[in-house]
This record gives sequence, structure tokens and C-alpha cells, in this order.
Amino acid sequence: MAMLQLKYIPDPDLRTPASAVSTFGAGLHTFLDNMYETMLDANGLGLAAPQVGRSEQIAIIDISLDCIQTPFVTSLSKQSPEAHLHRGRLELINPEIIERSARIVSSEEGCLSIPDYRDTIKRHEGVTVQAQDRLGRLYKVAAIELLAFALQHEIDHLHGTLFVDHLSRLKKVLFRKWCAKKNVELEA
Ligand code: CO
Repeated sequence: MAMLQLKYIPDPDLRTPASAVSTFGAGLHTFLDNMYETMLDANGLGLAAPQVGRSEQIAIIDISLDCIQTPFVTSLSKQSPEAHLHRGRLELINPEIIERSARIVSSEEGCLSIPDYRDTIKRHEGVTVQAQDRLGRLYKVAAIELLAFALQHEIDHLHGTLFVDHLSRLKKVLFRKWCAKKNVELEA
């Protein structure tokens, strides 16, 4: 395994919508393993491919942490639910949110691509996501609270969206000030 180079704002790679994955071979598996190692090393809860400069619809979430609920997985390809969790990992290829709870709640978030910045935004309390695993097999994962927030956060990355885009107008002003202080030049 190898470590991947993280991208930070204002890197344009973070703003580029990712392409769908169509090949589920050894190259993808190595990349997923490298993403996993990079996420653990950076103490991240999740990681999306654009954050390491690969514009493809691939994301992972660490579900080994105590604070994260066990994901509720349903197979859409006649597998056992666990079969979709490679070594207990949640790997999302071409993920799509297919259901969102009406209830909106506060979520305190950070992002490996915006080091040292945390803030509270609004997210759907629960979501259901349809995705493919590393072998291309379709499954669904339903989650609430922290895991649901992580799913929304990582899938946002695949569309070129960052959690700070969801800040209220007032908080956006504060975020811009924070960026100016850190010499982070934001896109207009
Ligand atoms: Co992020």
C-alpha cells in the first residue's frame, strides 16, 4: 500500500465533478486500499477520490470507530450484507442518495481538505444510499446521524461540493475571514 497526496482548498480538483467508475479491477482495489491507509494516517472519518486528485466517484468511510453506528446494509445483488463490506470497510463506488429524511438537523463537521476548520451545518438526519462495492455489486446502505452526515459529506465531494458550501451566510463571512487569515485564497 502507498500513501496518497491529499489536496487542500483551493485546489480545483476539489471542485471538479467526478466521473462514474466503470472498471472494477485490481487498479481500483489498490486505489481503495491506498485511500484507506491515507484516511487512517490523516485521522479522517472518510475520504473521497477527488481529495487525492482522482476525479472518479469513489468514497470510503471508517465504520470501525465507536462513534459510528453499524451501517444497515441491504444487498441488491443477492449477497449477504457483510459481503459488500470489504474487511469491514464501507466503500462507495458510484454512490447516489436515493432517500433523504425530511428532518434536518445540525452536524458539526470538518474536512481533511480544509485542515483545522470545523463548523456546524444542516444535514438530513437520515439517508439511504445506493452504491456499488469494489467488485461492482449493487447494495444499499441506510444510516442516521453521524454515518448519514458522513455519507452526505463524502457524496458531496464527488459533486465538487465542500461542507463549507452549506454554511449560513453569516458563517460564510466568518469562514472567508478565517481563510484570509490562513492565506487560503478562495475561488470567487
Ligand atoms: Co471532506
